[in-house]
Amino acid sequence: MSDQAINDDKFNALLGKVMGDVGGAIGLLMAYMGDQAGVYKALESTGPCSHEYLAKKTGVDARYLREWLSANAAAGYVDYDAGNDTFSLSPEQAAIFSHEGEPTCMQGFFQSVVAQYEEHETAVDVFKTGRPRPWSEHSPCCFCGTDRFFRPGYAANLVQNWIPALDGVEAKLNAGAKVGDIGCGLGSSTILLAQTYPNSRIYGFDFHGPSIEKAKEKAKEAGLTNIEFHEVTAKNFPGDDYDFICIFDALHDMGDPVGAAAHIKDSLNADGTFMVVEPLAADTLGENLNLLAAIFYGFSTTICVPTSKAQEVGLALGAQAGEKRISDVLKQAGFGRVHRATETPTNMVLEARK
Ligand SMILES: C[S@@+](CC[C@H](N)C(=O)[O-])C[C@H]1O[C@@H](n2cnc3c(N)ncnc32)[C@H](O)[C@@H]1O
Repeated sequence: MSDQAINDDKFNALLGKVMGDVGGAIGLLMAYMGDQAGVYKALESTGPCSHEYLAKKTGVDARYLREWLSANAAAGYVDYDAGNDTFSLSPEQAAIFSHEGEPTCMQGFFQSVVAQYEEHETAVDVFKTGRPRPWSEHSPCCFCGTDRFFRPGYAANLVQNWIPALDGVEAKLNAGAKVGDIGCGLGSSTILLAQTYPNSRIYGFDFHGPSIEKAKEKAKEAGLTNIEFHEVTAKNFPGDDYDFICIFDALHDMGDPVGAAAHIKDSLNADGTFMVVEPLAADTLGENLNLLAAIFYGFSTTICVPTSKAQEVGLALGAQAGEKRISDVLKQAGFGRVHRATETPTNMVLEARK
């Protein structure tokens, strides 16, 4: 035990923060439940109303709904009018809790957190034993949450900002290019590319069979004919002479990112481009002590590092590897030119050429 005296101010500041985190942890579960039961959407479309009225609209038990709305009102997730005993959703609350598919909607984030809590016993076991945890050992909620969390960011940035930031890639995609999306998961980025660039042929590759099946279904629903999905590892995907290959938030999950990047380099044509989208991070832990990093290091502890350790080499870059470390991986793989093409508040976009 430390013999240092507790500084009351520091203690109270930390306690206040931790209490906020506890409120957030239970609040996210409330938010996710409301999302799954359609309550936020119903409240937004109805406007100010009593809990009984909302219960009739949603089919949720009125007593449960009253308690849930009370938790939400106390947390500031919904507004409460004490005079009329009614609840409502402000435009700001609706943007965060109800507007599915928009970059402001945080429900994918919530779902990703809930998926980790859902499997807390596995997380503890992996942590205590040091055993690897393959990607496939997460709950389906994790795969959907990951997709739902990342999709709005891709929808807002990929075509508008990221592709135009790369040297000559947009023109090639418009004219008709051969494109690979490696570690494509449920295929949201792949589908977006196929929809935006109909002259191009887009191949989505991922080693997780259930994700590839979902991606195929989504592409079929979208009526796309310029897209293919295959279950295969990043080191073994087929084809050559690709004009453009991309990886979205997946390189750091790979056991052998150098091997994967080397295979990508060999699969590109001489003038091809490799785009790597990774979580934004500084190069050292000392520079990374902020809220975004705390979130990513958390997910990285339960998902990214154990996923990488479950594969050959097991480099375990983690979700906060930083530009320097990722660039080193790309250079070790044989890429001659690597630079940061652009970034968002949560992602950095690296461009690599032979
Ligand atoms: C965090 S998810 C990102 C998925 C998708 N790119 C997205 O942004 O929504 C990481 C993905 O990498 C895939 N993955 C991890 N290691 C892989 C490997 N060695 N080969 C192929 N896919 C891999 C996982 O199956 C998972 O779908």
